Amino acid sequence: MNLPNDRVKFSDSAFDRIGFFMYQSTGIRLQSSDKKMVYTRLLRRLRELSINTVDDYVDYLELNLEKEHAALIGLLTTHKSYFFRESQQFDLMEKELIPKLLKAHPHRQEWLIWSCACSKGQEPYSIAMILDHMDGFPLSLTKILATDVDSELLEHAQVGVYSEEEVRELPQEYRDKYIRQSRFEQYFVDASVKKLVRFKPLNIVSPWPMKKLFSMIFCRNLLIYFDVNTQHQIIRRLVGQLEQGGYLFFGHSEKIDTGRLGIKHVASNVYIKER
Ligand SMILES: C[S@@+](CC[C@H](N)C(=O)[O-])C[C@H]1O[C@@H](n2cnc3c(N)ncnc32)[C@H](O)[C@@H]1O
Repeated sequence: MNLPNDRVKFSDSAFDRIGFFMYQSTGIRLQSSDKKMVYTRLLRRLRELSINTVDDYVDYLELNLEKEHAALIGLLTTHKSYFFRESQQFDLMEKELIPKLLKAHPHRQEWLIWSCACSKGQEPYSIAMILDHMDGFPLSLTKILATDVDSELLEHAQVGVYSEEEVRELPQEYRDKYIRQSRFEQYFVDASVKKLVRFKPLNIVSPWPMKKLFSMIFCRNLLIYFDVNTQHQIIRRLVGQLEQGGYLFFGHSEKIDTGRLGIKHVASNVYIKER
């Protein structure tokens, strides 16, 4: 492999140790073809820590695991997300799925929704905006739980501040209604939307503390990082955390093996838990 700077030693055994750490802590399996990506992303961190080689960095990581593990996970996972991503799923949610849920449970006292890899908050805030914008959704009974393994992303999500480029993706009607501009070319999510969302750190491959069942779970563009066995275990647990008749959303590029999981395909990577 041609690394950009051969002076910065990165042995195969150091790569294997990083791979072991990533698999243990996130369930993400690095492939040998990822070595260059890992190297490129680590260079900046090496400079920040004044460490000369990746091999030395791995020693540092193992000695300072508690302090360093969040930084490494942050560097090696992909956070790309945007408001109203895969908007056809949100259209379906607004026009068909929510009306069906409301009809099936007219007297429900609590509506729970989970975005389980929420990145910087664009996904749960998009859901919150749609619910707020709809006629008649019982917002005072609604909680959107938004979780991610990366605590730094969650801090950002909690503040709810975005660049001009990030809010450009929002439909104009939603941007006008839910985004406030500050003096410094920064854009804030309105409090009416923020109050619906609760952010918490959660590693999808660790035990989950939630006891209650959700009406909708968004697990989009996360499973692609896991091997097939881990994907299957996660989907099985997600189905267990969903109420009967509730909906599960995956990303468009994720191929879901639904065999014997008790879910049925509804549309473009949206599934319903069978009654
Ligand atoms: C590509 S983003 C997807 C964001 C959003 N769901 C979307 O579709 O736009 C993947 C997210 O998964 C998170 N992630 C990676 N491994 C995770 C894990 N083991 N548990 C929970 N979140 C994880 C990353 O931090 C990142 O924010």
